[in-house]
Amino acid sequence: MRKLSVCVGSSCHLKGAYDIIKIFEKMIKENKLEDEIELSAEFCCGNCTRPVSVKIDNGDPFSVTREGAYDFFKKHFLEE
Ligand code: FES
Repeated sequence: MRKLSVCVGSSCHLKGAYDIIKIFEKMIKENKLEDEIELSAEFCCGNCTRPVSVKIDNGDPFSVTREGAYDFFKKHFLEE
């Protein structure tokens, strides 16, 4: 099971973290990946000056925008 976590600290929240979670939830469902990806929210990881912080398997944070969330998911979970 892979882990996908989205920062919901105040800065990331303002930049659309909630929308990104919704997009990921939808993509997990559409691709029937519920048993393979565990989606969670986490607190600030100190990367606040960038777009929303998203981690995969607790690695270094990626910076993801609302607009880029679909492509990010596709790249990391559908094309690998
Ligand atoms: S609020 Fe998301 S990295 Fe700080």
